[in-house]
Amino acid sequence: MSYGERIAIKSRRELDRMREAGRHTGEILLVLREAARPGVRTDELNEIASKELEKRGLRSPFLGYSPGGLPPYPAVLCVSINDEIVHGIPGSRELQEGDILSLDFGVDFEGFHGDSAVTIPIGSVPGETRQLVKTTRDSLYEGIAKMVPGQRLSDIGHAVQSKAERSGYSVVRQFVGHGIGREMHEPPQVPNYGRKGRGPRLTAGMVFAIEPMVNVGTEEVRMLEDEWTAVTADGALSAHFEHTVAITDEGPEVLTAVQGSH
Ligand code: MF3
Ligand code: CO
Repeated sequence: MSYGERIAIKSRRELDRMREAGRHTGEILLVLREAARPGVRTDELNEIASKELEKRGLRSPFLGYSPGGLPPYPAVLCVSINDEIVHGIPGSRELQEGDILSLDFGVDFEGFHGDSAVTIPIGSVPGETRQLVKTTRDSLYEGIAKMVPGQRLSDIGHAVQSKAERSGYSVVRQFVGHGIGREMHEPPQVPNYGRKGRGPRLTAGMVFAIEPMVNVGTEEVRMLEDEWTAVTADGALSAHFEHTVAITDEGPEVLTAVQGSH
């Protein structure tokens, strides 16, 4: 994955297709959120996502994705439970009351991508777990609020990190947000941490996927043998929220938000 080059500026027409990609992504994530209940297997959620893609004539950018020699990703959806941070592979595991489940999903609509993630409590979860989930979502929106022309790239990550750390949590360094458009991962990398006032100036037409991963304990990551699933090194809980967001002269436009979504 190379993020270090030029940042694409989307035309009006391209943005229109990004809006469609975002809408599909948001709608399908809502369907998945409704389906996620105690006793449901994570591969059943993947099946629902596959059917939605098929119904809408969309391609999955996740399925078969193989950056840097990793084994091709085998599903259209990532499911990360409790101490799993990101990129968990759907399987026979059943959701349990009290779990938190991160769903990460994307689509390819006519060559343009949407990418979004949400963490949901399964049944009732302890108040402190709900607090982690809420803070992670809030940190995403603190970052999004910086996505206006004239701000600097690092202002986004700085805002995310400040929110998470003020609340007593840590932010994962090993995975970052990214430009998105004709590719799911485009330049630039968008870290969820950093000092403000650094990096390129933001301009209208840039589109980024902002995706904070916030941990209760250490920010350190451990990789499972499947080479995809990232878990917290200390086994403590982690939450993940993501939106695909366009920078416009009118402010940030959250392309993957639909009525009722995160
Ligand atoms: N939203 C995820 C990311 O930006 C996409 C995961 S790709 C997959 O990292 F292949 F792992 F599914
Ligand atoms: Co992403």
